[in-house]
Amino acid sequence: MAFLQVTSMEIKISTKQRDYSIYLEHHILEKASELIGNEGKKFIITDSGVPFKWTSLIQKQFPEAKMFVFPCGEQSKSLECYAKIMTWLVENKCSRKDVIIALGGGVVGDLSGFVASTYMRGIKYVNIPTTMLSQIDSSIGGKTAIDFNGLKNIVGSFWQPSMVLIDPDTLSTLSARQLSNGLAEAVKAGLIRDKELFEIFEKDDYLQHIDEIIFRSLMVKKQIVEEDEMEQSVRKLLNFGHSYGHGYESYFKGKYLHGECVAMGMMTILKNEEIRERLRNILLRLHLPVIEECDKDKVAEIITSDKKAAGNKIDIVQVDEIGNGHVETWDISEIRRLLG
Ligand SMILES: NC(=O)c1ccc[n+]([C@@H]2O[C@H](COP(=O)([O-])OP(=O)(O)OC[C@H]3O[C@@H](n4cnc5c(N)ncnc54)[C@H](O)[C@@H]3O)[C@@H](O)[C@H]2O)c1
Ligand SMILES: [Zn+2]
Repeated sequence: MAFLQVTSMEIKISTKQRDYSIYLEHHILEKASELIGNEGKKFIITDSGVPFKWTSLIQKQFPEAKMFVFPCGEQSKSLECYAKIMTWLVENKCSRKDVIIALGGGVVGDLSGFVASTYMRGIKYVNIPTTMLSQIDSSIGGKTAIDFNGLKNIVGSFWQPSMVLIDPDTLSTLSARQLSNGLAEAVKAGLIRDKELFEIFEKDDYLQHIDEIIFRSLMVKKQIVEEDEMEQSVRKLLNFGHSYGHGYESYFKGKYLHGECVAMGMMTILKNEEIRERLRNILLRLHLPVIEECDKDKVAEIITSDKKAAGNKIDIVQVDEIGNGHVETWDISEIRRLLG
């Protein structure tokens, strides 16, 4: 796969919790030790699906560092895996001055971030996202979490990383399915905030623009997170396609990946026919699912079940104009209607 090369880029993120930089650059992983520095011991956390090519590249720059590898997959975002990592940190005498390096996709980032936020009431962590989804979305913004009692991301915290290193070269080992899965979130970012980003996906050679896609998606997320770190208002826009998306994710029980469910969720919610058609063509081009046969009553039930306690209202993001999403508050009874 060919990538358009970007020159090095530093994106500064400013939040109430802390300011930090995202470095976006090809081969930046080779400079990780230079950027992270030698202050504090390093604790690398990764999963079994991250290719040796990338783990060895980081490990050799920190020969003294300890490394914890957990089994890849969403099931590791668990209390059990969290406890194993905590035990490992305690046994290896990780102190408040030390640094966690999260190397992998969103699962590694969410779990390591949660570990970092709670170990000794919070220690530094550097995020090195290696999947499309984590490079454009989950690695910034400070949401960390594990799943519990069958509920996704129910235990977590807001904990900003102290640095994010994004090397688009790591995407070269990713499967086409995982690549498209992440790109669904970039399409979302385009729809809610950046028309030009959306339009990149209407070009046949969109894969030549991966660097720009990453950069633009990060800028959308940066602006939104800086405006509303704790998701009180505008950050809700990032949930476009996610209400139905989460419903599909639970309903299909692992058949579809997160981004694939968001793709279907966006198709379900969009009312504007022209935008819907354009989105449909993009999803087909990316080999993402458009809409799948399902038991609509069940999907609606999943989406509304946890809202019942919250006053029968649900915040839904809608896009009537590309690049300009808005939040609407609905009565939960309307959820079933849109499923047709
Ligand atoms: N914190 C947030 O704001 C936020 C936002 C969106 C999603 N998420 C979370 O992110 C998670 C999904 O993240 P994901 O899509 O990155 O999945 P993932 O972390 O499970 O990674 C997908 C697979 O790719 C493997 N992998 C990682 N890097 C690779 C590489 N360079 N080459 C080949 N294989 C590689 C992983 O080992 C894994 O098997 C979910 O748990 C979701 O809840 C969090
Ligand atoms: Zn998402």
